[in-house]
Amino acid sequence: MERTYLMIKPDGVQRGLIGEIVGRFERKGLKLVGAKLMNVSLERAERHYAEHKGKDFYEMLLKFITAGPVFAMVWEGDQAVGLCRALIGKTNALEAAPGTIRSDFAIHTNFNLIHGSDSQDNAEREIGIFFTEEELVPYDKAIQVWI
Ligand code: PPS
Repeated sequence: MERTYLMIKPDGVQRGLIGEIVGRFERKGLKLVGAKLMNVSLERAERHYAEHKGKDFYEMLLKFITAGPVFAMVWEGDQAVGLCRALIGKTNALEAAPGTIRSDFAIHTNFNLIHGSDSQDNAEREIGIFFTEEELVPYDKAIQVWI
């Protein structure tokens, strides 16, 4: 069973897409084990995006992610990291496959609505940046046996 970190970015919150986006992961059959609306401090944003420091979009990314509240989530399920990335779609909305979140709702790469961890290692690291262990709520889901 994997865990992954997802974050609806400030544009998704501002556009009222939290329910739409959360619903897609719920309907897929994944299990939500942590969620909160929060402002991201510059320090947290720098830790989260540390691997992109120095890239031409880095400063813009920090400014964007700290510009307004995000909806931070932890989802659990078999192959959760890869499945969530597939539902999100490619970074550039033009290249995102139809039916993905970014294809359906995003136009700009700068404002691409949602972040999803790209590996299990990064998922653990990112969950640790945004959540304490007490904020995660493990529970059994009866339907799990059917999917
Ligand atoms: S890279 O260079 O391949 O690692 O980049 P990528 O994985 O596609 O993207 C890394 C994160 O930076 C965001 N990104 C951008 N933000 C603003 N402007 C531009 N041009 C841009 N290009 C990439 C991208 O959405 C990734 O953020 P997350 O939060 O992981 O989606």
